[in-house]
Amino acid sequence: MTSTSQWVFGYGSLIYKVDFPYLESQPASICGWVRRFWQGSHDHRGLPEAPGRVVTLAPQADAVCHGMAYRVEEDVLAHLDFREKDGYQRVVTALQFADGHQQQGIVYIATEHNAAYLGDAPLSEIAAHIQRSAGPSGSNQDYLLRLAESLRQLAVYDEHVFELEALLLSETSQTVS
Ligand code: SIN
Repeated sequence: MTSTSQWVFGYGSLIYKVDFPYLESQPASICGWVRRFWQGSHDHRGLPEAPGRVVTLAPQADAVCHGMAYRVEEDVLAHLDFREKDGYQRVVTALQFADGHQQQGIVYIATEHNAAYLGDAPLSEIAAHIQRSAGPSGSNQDYLLRLAESLRQLAVYDEHVFELEALLLSETSQTVS
């Protein structure tokens, strides 16, 4: 690895919306975190007056969060910092790769100390919130459904995401019928 490249771990839209150049990518995981739809989005999947809900990571001992790692040139981080500016901060952590090797990398995490943080709520409320929200990057439903689909493609089971997907799809089918 050259000294100007960095590994970045994606666990949300960074898995399926790869709008940046990368040198290589690999499925990877990080320990001690769970994926949760607890972050507000004012600039992508919601609006300042009506934020949507997107994923962040919550600390949980013994948990493993699976996603996708990208090796990027250092200057790509400016683009990612801008994209993730609504409350996310860079955290350096150990990434585990499928072949067993480990590498330090960056992950964007929005903690409860940021202004856009929404936190936990009953899953039915989170699903309803996602169903009614949309922003400049598209509908909040699209964010959830694409994330669920990409996790399936990676053979990753995420109960939180898949339960929300099921709730959303059952709500949508009731609205349509
Ligand atoms: C990520 O995908 O790693 C961060 C959260 C997001 O942009 O959806």
